[in-house]
Amino acid sequence: MKKEVLVSPSMLAADFLRLGEEVGRICAAGCDYVHIDVMDGHFVPNLTMGPCVVEHIAKASSKPLDIHLMVKNVPFFVDLFIPLKPAILSVHIEEVVHLHRLIWHIKDAGIKAGVVLNPHTNEQLLEYILPDIDVILLMSVNPGFGGQSFIPSSLTKLANLKKMRDRLNPACMLEIDGGVSDKNIQALKNAGIDMVVAGSFVFNSQDYAKSIAALR
Ligand code: DX5
Ligand code: ZN
Repeated sequence: MKKEVLVSPSMLAADFLRLGEEVGRICAAGCDYVHIDVMDGHFVPNLTMGPCVVEHIAKASSKPLDIHLMVKNVPFFVDLFIPLKPAILSVHIEEVVHLHRLIWHIKDAGIKAGVVLNPHTNEQLLEYILPDIDVILLMSVNPGFGGQSFIPSSLTKLANLKKMRDRLNPACMLEIDGGVSDKNIQALKNAGIDMVVAGSFVFNSQDYAKSIAALR
């Protein structure tokens, strides 16, 4: 039987004036997780939402949260979001000095720990951390904005990461974020993806359930 891909719609593309309604709609449409993009205006040139807003989204969501931190001063932000008990909390490898310490800190709180790679970051950097993490989040656009084009070399990188993951930690989930649509989903599945983030593809459509089903 073919494995189904998990879908985590990104709230970045939702209507921010109707966040509660939007999260209700994607949950009812059958998403697996709700992806939350936290941006600080320093690590990326954009600002989104902090724990106060995310706390309300969590209350309105029937699905687990998948939080993606695009921030500097990562340990500070990790401690702001741990009390919200997301299912997954992911941090950028480019910004963390003591990665094992931070990963263990997240896991000690009963939260799945993810490590994010920017599109140009060499996947070999994961070699010594991969056995300790629950999720690899591969960026297929430069983080900071929704609606950007998928960077084609991400497919080669995904294939390399799948080999590394299968060798070092088969239980670790492979997730991709940025420019995912019905145009590239088959190639992503062929390369072994477990979970996709989709912002504009889901929220710019009329029928969220149909878009989520198209990615599955
Ligand atoms: C980009 C964010 C993504 C983004 C995805 O910095 O991490 O989650 O919202 O949006 P789309 O699917 O529109 O590329
Ligand atoms: Zn994201």
